[in-house]
Amino acid sequence: MHTHPFLHSLLLLLLLPLITHCSILSAPQPGFKYDEKLARLSLEYAAASYADNPWPCLRKNNASLVLQVDVPCDAVRDKCWAIIVDAPEHIVVAFQGTSSRTQLITELVESITSPKHQVPGIGSVQRYFFVALESISKHISIKLDKLRETYPKKSVLFTGHSLGGALASLAAAEYANCSGIDPSSLYLVTFGQPRVGNHEYAQSVDRLVPNTWRIVHKYDLVAHVPYCVGFRTCQDFLNHSPYHHGTEVWYPTNMSEHDIYKVCDGLPLDEDASCSNDHLLYTIDDHLRYFDRHVSDYGIDGCPVEPTPPGTRKTKKTKKNQARYRNLNRTLEDMPEMEAIAMITEVAMERWARDYLEYVWDWWHRRNTTGGGEELIRPSW
Ligand SMILES: *[C@@H]1O[C@H](CO)[C@@H](O)[C@H](O)[C@H]1NC(C)=O
Ligand SMILES: *[C@@H]1O[C@H](CO)[C@@H](O)[C@H](O)[C@H]1NC(C)=O
Ligand SMILES: *[C@@H]1O[C@H](CO)[C@@H](O)[C@H](O)[C@H]1NC(C)=O
Ligand SMILES: *[C@@H]1O[C@H](CO)[C@@H](O)[C@H](O)[C@H]1NC(C)=O
Ligand SMILES: *[C@@H]1O[C@H](CO)[C@@H](O)[C@H](O)[C@H]1NC(C)=O
Repeated sequence: MHTHPFLHSLLLLLLLPLITHCSILSAPQPGFKYDEKLARLSLEYAAASYADNPWPCLRKNNASLVLQVDVPCDAVRDKCWAIIVDAPEHIVVAFQGTSSRTQLITELVESITSPKHQVPGIGSVQRYFFVALESISKHISIKLDKLRETYPKKSVLFTGHSLGGALASLAAAEYANCSGIDPSSLYLVTFGQPRVGNHEYAQSVDRLVPNTWRIVHKYDLVAHVPYCVGFRTCQDFLNHSPYHHGTEVWYPTNMSEHDIYKVCDGLPLDEDASCSNDHLLYTIDDHLRYFDRHVSDYGIDGCPVEPTPPGTRKTKKTKKNQARYRNLNRTLEDMPEMEAIAMITEVAMERWARDYLEYVWDWWHRRNTTGGGEELIRPSW
């Protein structure tokens, strides 16, 4: 279907009311409580995963590095890191996110334009995340199983910031599915995590990893992409809209020492309309800072107790990023934030309109593709 994007959007709007349905939402699992101390600790590991040398962050928390794995990302970045950590009370798997704004925008556009991938027993996820994780999930689970044998009392914590949060989410779900670990010893804590999959995926994570805390700082943009479909609130749209899993913990302020937060268990479930969803303008700046720290800088600096004064680290970071991304095939100039947001929005809207129309087309003309003649366009997720 090669129609003008605007036409897609228009058609989409016309079709929406026909296809909406209300699914029966499962109730949140009782007995799991948000623990801010654990969230702050998780940020240390999520930050550590940004560093080429995660040891300073880990030593500070009496933890040690067990394994540093590189995850092949995509054409944009040659490598992403995941670390496995032996911590006092947990076995931690932390995934690196993106450390520069340009990189972040590029990756968001990449992940939005990639079709979905069906993970058996779990749901559909953005292919981009699935591919990034695929080649290492086996190594991770083998290592985890060994560590759990050695330390049967420690619980397993998956964590990550930004796109690292998406990988942590998927890794935790897959691990829960394959290992049969008791849900009470499995934690998932993410920071500024994008939507990873569809409604089925969300429900699977809620079921497999009930101890999940999806922390959102103020108007973090990334926590709202890929954009969900719906008027005013997110709807699952027969599994065709990106949909968050539980449970959002929203910090409406700067996340300083005693700042307030809200555990978002309102409706629609997992997409609570009264938390961060209740806004229209989001920013990348809120995405980069969690618990009053610039997450990637904090990790690269070795998790110092006192924040590094702004002027002193800028050049170092630029050099570091240049070194890290020197294998980049593509370059994207730093663009103004509003332009970036407009671009992400446009790409996303076009993609969903296209996917959705394909789906509707298929739905209305249900016939099989093998019967010869014109091949029917099939929904890609
Ligand atoms: C690390 O261990 C030392 C000695 O046992 C202890 O004093 C310190 O509080 C611990 N630090 C953390 C962050 O747990
Ligand atoms: C794990 O995934 C498989 C499919 O690969 C599915 O049959 C099974 O029900 C899942 N297990 C759980 C606990 O969800
Ligand atoms: C939050 O941080 C911003 C920027 O650092 C600052 O301008 C603002 O005053 C802070 N607000 C509070 C309530 O601390
Ligand atoms: C990288 O760029 C070179 C030269 O433009 C091109 O030949 C190559 O196919 C590109 N590789 C990827 C992975 O895009
Ligand atoms: C397609 O339709 C034909 C004829 O109705 C049927 O025999 C065949 O099994 C169908 N194939 C699939 C994959 O459903």
